[in-house]
Amino acid sequence: MARTTTPRPDSGVTRGNSENRSPTATAAYTTKNDLPEAARREAVALLNQRLADCIDLQTQSKQAHWNVKGPSFIALHKLFDEINAAVAEYADLLAERVVQLGGIAEGTVGVVAERSTLVDYPIGLSTGAEHVAALSDALAMFGRTVRVGIEEMNELEDAGSADILTEISRGVDKWLWFVEAHQQGG
Ligand SMILES: [Fe+2]
Repeated sequence: MARTTTPRPDSGVTRGNSENRSPTATAAYTTKNDLPEAARREAVALLNQRLADCIDLQTQSKQAHWNVKGPSFIALHKLFDEINAAVAEYADLLAERVVQLGGIAEGTVGVVAERSTLVDYPIGLSTGAEHVAALSDALAMFGRTVRVGIEEMNELEDAGSADILTEISRGVDKWLWFVEAHQQGG
């Protein structure tokens, strides 16, 4: 839901003076989880960033599901809803990992609108080709940030978070194939 076409850095949210929106403030709870606290804090901030992107992608796939028109309507209408359901599960994985690491999952619409690095989904789209182009862009953007996230988690030696991001990456690559296939072979 970014309001500009320029992806924003992963530096968190600075809305008003609410310091508690800072991603570094979100590893708030003590836990017997033996990952070092510093690594958990960093992982929480990174996961919350990916969570914002993921929820944005989820809403974008619903937007496409609702509004697509044209000869491929039923195929695309169903595909976009399948993507929405899968991406909702990815959001759940990310949010619950944040909490497992002692953080607070930050997945409200307000936070997502501020924090997402995805380009805002164009409202006026109609044809299948337009929605395929826009949603494949969003899937590719999210896929890239998730792939970067895997490397970041490996550096933090957080194999669990890396594994979750790898699962999500695999899924997003599949959905990108499903969507892009509508542009190919014709
Ligand atoms: Fe529906």
